[in-house]
Amino acid sequence: MDNRVRIFDTTLRDGEQSPGASMNVEEKLLVARQLARLGVDVIEAGFAFSSPGDFDAVRRVAFEVEGPVVCSLARARPEDIDAAANALKGAAKTRIHTFISTSDIHLKHQFKLTRAEAKKRAVEMVERARGYVEDVEFSAMDASRTEPAYLYEVIEAVIRAGASTVNIPDTVGYALPEAFGALIKGIRENVKNIDGAVISVHCHNDLGLAVANSLAAVVNGARQVECTINGIGERAGNASLEEIVMILKTRKDLLGLETSINTEQIYPSSRLVSGITGMAVQANKAIVGDNAFAHESGIHQDGLLKDKSTYEIMRPESVGISRSTLVMGKHSGRHAFKERLKELGFELSGENLDKAFERFKALADKKKEVFDEDIEALVQDEVLRLEMPDRFRLGRLNVRSGTDTMPVAEVEMEVDGKTVKETGGGDGPVDAAYKTIAKITGTGSTLLKYTVNAITGGTDAQGEVSVRIKEGEHIVLGQGSHTDIIVASARAYINALNRLEHKKKERRENLVL
Ligand code: KIV
Ligand code: ZN
Repeated sequence: MDNRVRIFDTTLRDGEQSPGASMNVEEKLLVARQLARLGVDVIEAGFAFSSPGDFDAVRRVAFEVEGPVVCSLARARPEDIDAAANALKGAAKTRIHTFISTSDIHLKHQFKLTRAEAKKRAVEMVERARGYVEDVEFSAMDASRTEPAYLYEVIEAVIRAGASTVNIPDTVGYALPEAFGALIKGIRENVKNIDGAVISVHCHNDLGLAVANSLAAVVNGARQVECTINGIGERAGNASLEEIVMILKTRKDLLGLETSINTEQIYPSSRLVSGITGMAVQANKAIVGDNAFAHESGIHQDGLLKDKSTYEIMRPESVGISRSTLVMGKHSGRHAFKERLKELGFELSGENLDKAFERFKALADKKKEVFDEDIEALVQDEVLRLEMPDRFRLGRLNVRSGTDTMPVAEVEMEVDGKTVKETGGGDGPVDAAYKTIAKITGTGSTLLKYTVNAITGGTDAQGEVSVRIKEGEHIVLGQGSHTDIIVASARAYINALNRLEHKKKERRENLVL
């Protein structure tokens, strides 16, 4: 059996299903380009039928990102398969990924289908997808809670119908490693035509076992792992790409398996995804957390100074952590800035580069030291925003506050291209600014969460503000950064309001299975 494990990245599809983590098309393209640099085999770029935004994302990733196979998800329904095919039509390396549940729990309560009907639909939709593309993946949703004999039957039938990858999801994160490994072994032993397809796994992390289950599957013959950067995804998330890849690399001695991942791109990928989605990476997260390579104990530090192998099983450089603490200052030139951006995962040119460089110079004037984190924040804050046709833009903001004065904000904004000014008060400077922005935009949203962090150390550090707002069904995130935290707060709020506008237009409601 071949020893290469294919990495199927679903950050842009399952990862995007993390509450509040939705990305616009330009953000998805940035992530997809980074995934190509990372060397993933397949990018699941979205679910073409689910919304015009997803359709567009699948299409643009398929046409504009070179290297990986680009895939669209599709329910086992003709309209989904057709939308996926349309989005991918004419692109170089494409895959349609169709799915239906196979567990009795799902068939009875959700799909209202018999086993025979579900199998028939799976076969018909694989055949339909094969009418459009060569590369078709079938997922038996909730496979880990499906009766194995029926699962084998479905897998055999879809391979006969033309599926070249069969995915075995642990949709609800219920499996235990030994049992999940045994399920994969059972599939290899009981499905007659299994050699005609790659076995894939897609594990959720509800019990914290997504990576362990994926690994057990690989040990038992799975050769594709579906995973996401930083493990983001529905509920507790998916198996984390960086953990899977570094386990296979670090323990190649035992596992004898490899991937095509350029591991030095892991850290830039992690930073990019966490910046864009606003989903912070916990400090003690394996591989990419702030503390993953930080040695605190004196005994450990002593050992490391004598020989790195005493306490380090991986080199930080091997995952792309070789960051100089101080990167640049106000004398740094445009070329050096562009190169640094590239190392951080952003390939900018033209107007985007000009705009980012302008912001960098302005920041370097205010701050003595500009760190990588500052650069990442300004790119996310300014450049990504350029790409979206935003309804609301912040013009001027002036706030008076202090111990002896009622906070008052004067805000000037552009709304649909027209300048609007308002003045308003509040309980504090941020509240005053937010109430005035709410008055100008007429938003009906409520603020769920507001957090502010200093991006780096020092009193001249930039403040990075994240907000989560809700209107009806929609929850969105907004981010903003600035050396003045009131300005950063206003930017974050306006960013969220713009995202809300996009989201309200985009999402096609009530998808039925
Ligand atoms: O978790 C799951 O089962 C899925 C499928 C659509 C593959 O995301
Ligand atoms: Zn999933």
